[in-house]
Amino acid sequence: MRKKITIAGAGRVGSTAVQLCAYKELGDIVLFNRTAETARGIALDLSESAPILGFDVKITGTNDFEETKNSDVIVITAGSQRKEGMSREELLCRNADIVESIAGKLAAQSPDAVLIVVTNPLDVMVHVGCKYSGFKKSKVIGMAGILDTSRFRSFISGELNVSVEDVSAIVLGGHSDVMVPLPEHSTVNGIPITELLSKEKIKQIIERTKKGGAEIVALMKDSSAFYAPGTGITQIVEAVVKDKKRVLPCAAYLNGQFGLKGIFMGVPAKIGAHGVEEILEFELNNEEKKAFYESAESVRKLVEKLNVECPVKI
Ligand code: 2OP
Repeated sequence: MRKKITIAGAGRVGSTAVQLCAYKELGDIVLFNRTAETARGIALDLSESAPILGFDVKITGTNDFEETKNSDVIVITAGSQRKEGMSREELLCRNADIVESIAGKLAAQSPDAVLIVVTNPLDVMVHVGCKYSGFKKSKVIGMAGILDTSRFRSFISGELNVSVEDVSAIVLGGHSDVMVPLPEHSTVNGIPITELLSKEKIKQIIERTKKGGAEIVALMKDSSAFYAPGTGITQIVEAVVKDKKRVLPCAAYLNGQFGLKGIFMGVPAKIGAHGVEEILEFELNNEEKKAFYESAESVRKLVEKLNVECPVKI
């Protein structure tokens, strides 16, 4: 039987994810949106591309929670977007309200699903999604590390003029300017980039990665990134529906791993049919540890801010 995937939020990120999940035939897809017509229109348009591309999945648009029933995966992309000059954090209360308003209702229809949260500010919204879905923490995943790592890989590949396929990298921590790219664990076919690029160049690439989201908002003005985020979502959906046991940088719940407890943060997570099946720990050097804990601190501060300033608490 085909898998069923619900994607909530018919903005550019949500619709890009629908298109890629459909193209890869990962399952039938329900695009859930507050305004049903928008979702139906996108679903119809994408369905009409199926004969050209040759994918056999059903795509529907709705604002009826019941139509999402028995999904294997739920993806929440719904929320206000970053506009030029805005930080991801400025979306805090508004988006917490949106995630809270749908997480429980979607979870009630699909109690066995894996939940992927994409709404910003990402790490805090994963906490909100987890609390209001009532799902086990291991069934809740935040998509951001894949995006940040992909940006890092893309910049490394561009700088060295080598195929993106040969660049492997990792970015840990929160999805904010205090994310933690790890150059010593980033390689070109096994060769650390620290052997191939100068310290200065690596520093520039890291800075660009950290500001990757803002760079796109500054160019597009009325939109934040959507192709790379939509592609990142698709990679997690695929790992879940095919039980691939992919090791991907995702916001996962830490219960002592890397010395942290009670927080969702970007770490290497093994993703399969049950969601986060394991967190792969490894030794960080002192500098990396410092940056990682600073990143955790900024996630904790934002969770605190939510609890103090927003109507939705966790
Ligand atoms: C990004 O980094 C919007 O958070 C998203 O592009």
